[in-house]
Amino acid sequence: MFRSNTCGELRIADAGREVTLAGWVQRVRKMGGMTFVDLRDRYGITQVVFNVEHDAELTNAANHLGREFVIQVTGKVAERTAKNASLPTGDIEIIADRLNILNPSEVPPFTIEDESDGGDDIRMRYRYLDLRRTPVRRNLELRHKMTMEVRRYLDSKGFLEIETPMLVGSTPEGARDFVVPSRMNPGQFYALPQSPQTLKQLLMVSGMDRYFQIVKCFRDEDLRADRQPEFTQIDCEMSFIEQDDVIELFEGMAKHLFKEIRGIELKEPFLRMPWADAMKYYGSDKPDLRFDMRFVELMDVLKGYGFSVFDNAEYIGGICAKGAATYTRKQLDALTEYVKRPQIGAKGMVYARVEEDGNVKSSVDKFYTQEVLQELRKAMNAEPGDLILILSGDDAMRTRKQLCELRLEMGRQLGLRDKDKFVCLWVVDFPMFEWSDEEQRLMAMHHPFTHPKDEDIALLDTDPAIVRADAYDMVINGVEVGGGSIRIHDSELQAKMFEILGFTPEKAQEQFGFLMNAFKYGAPPHGGLAYGLDRWVSLFAGLDSIRDCIAFPKNNSGRDVMLDAPAALDQKQLDELNLALNLPESK
Ligand code: AMO
Repeated sequence: MFRSNTCGELRIADAGREVTLAGWVQRVRKMGGMTFVDLRDRYGITQVVFNVEHDAELTNAANHLGREFVIQVTGKVAERTAKNASLPTGDIEIIADRLNILNPSEVPPFTIEDESDGGDDIRMRYRYLDLRRTPVRRNLELRHKMTMEVRRYLDSKGFLEIETPMLVGSTPEGARDFVVPSRMNPGQFYALPQSPQTLKQLLMVSGMDRYFQIVKCFRDEDLRADRQPEFTQIDCEMSFIEQDDVIELFEGMAKHLFKEIRGIELKEPFLRMPWADAMKYYGSDKPDLRFDMRFVELMDVLKGYGFSVFDNAEYIGGICAKGAATYTRKQLDALTEYVKRPQIGAKGMVYARVEEDGNVKSSVDKFYTQEVLQELRKAMNAEPGDLILILSGDDAMRTRKQLCELRLEMGRQLGLRDKDKFVCLWVVDFPMFEWSDEEQRLMAMHHPFTHPKDEDIALLDTDPAIVRADAYDMVINGVEVGGGSIRIHDSELQAKMFEILGFTPEKAQEQFGFLMNAFKYGAPPHGGLAYGLDRWVSLFAGLDSIRDCIAFPKNNSGRDVMLDAPAALDQKQLDELNLALNLPESK
């Protein structure tokens, strides 16, 4: 037997037992004739003691152990004199009788402890060592537990787990594809799936009725804290359902996960908010509702008093930060700088404090009488002690987005974005299309397979830009954790959708003929959703980036620094694939 126990399981009740443990040396401490070794494995840390008086040769060997040596130790479990309450095994230690060095280790490039001294880059380069650290390992354990619960829940609801191919065709909508050259089909390329969207719809045509897959998706897009080029979806599709059925089933799954993973019982139905309201009141399709601070439009209140910034604005909006009137000039200047950063792009910020006597003092007092400022206070529903922050601009949507950033920052500064509080929300009634300046045409907001709202179908011919879709996103604490829609199952409506999106009938046939043809053979009404697994895990683990719940993630430039990928191919491989490179001069 290699080991009788793990390094995390021995307790005082085991005192007197002879055990064998195996693991990594976390630390060696020499104190007089005693040598203490902290032995670590996935399950915990156990203290092993070597005593010169007990066995001088063995203790000498222990003194020469280095960090991260892999060893096997046999000895007796004994009660510790100096107990360590911070370790589950802290009441005991192993008095070593035998030591077997299974594999020595070079000195690791950073200390492998909860608080590592390794910077981000070095830890990513030696990710296999980073994964030995408890906080990182815990995230993977949580991820495992979540996928187990997902499978349990979906299985109990009759879903079949079905795999779909990773080598598929490129589709022009959505993000950029990652492509794979085909050796056997010179000059032709597969694409890695951005999601199994069309395949799961075909499975509905096949009569699978309820499908799910925990599946890798690939998107070549700009990376952010909540985006990786390859990420994992909990992808689902159902037949013979309406929007409410999908929402109910996946709200049930969310509640199941909250209960099983975080021990939180969410009894109330999740809030539902039309997309138009989310944009109007929070300037975002994924509002963080852990705090209110909703926007108030102030065009009627503040326009026409000679303050040209407001007089010329297409949108003026304010938020009221409760109890923040104590903000100093310095703090307010810093907030102004914050919204003026290029990533946010506001031109400036106006503020107004409601003083204890109810008077309002603003940064634009010279344009506004106290009477008008009291109107402002009323509109904002502000009380003594509150701080009103106002942004304006010549583009309403852009200004709302800037105000959204300011709201989030204020929420953060006022401690209103507690990681242990969760507010779940369905954003519904998304627009079907959005205008793309780059492409100079309408693009599908969700994807081209989304069903328009029945009552808006007539508008497809007259005013497609205002058509709403049967599409929904789940948002938790300002994070889009999932999204889905009811699909078109009628080949004519699908053809019309492609036409509005600017596809010629030939192009639509070439790209999506397989789907439209399938719809001719009895496609059931269907719809579904995909949750972003990485985002769920990081939300539950309280992480700032989804990278930390992925075993081997990519960095911000899409590189795996451990594998040093992507990398150039050698000429032989390029030739085999019939590829010639056409790099810009500088490369
Ligand atoms: P969507 O594109 O909204 O929908 O993706 C579904 C969910 O996947 C997660 N997600 C990501 N997570 C990490 N990194 C990324 N780059 C990334 N992109 C998306 C998000 C998102 O809500 N086929 C449709 C689903 C459907 O209609 O059923 C789809 O892919 O949490």
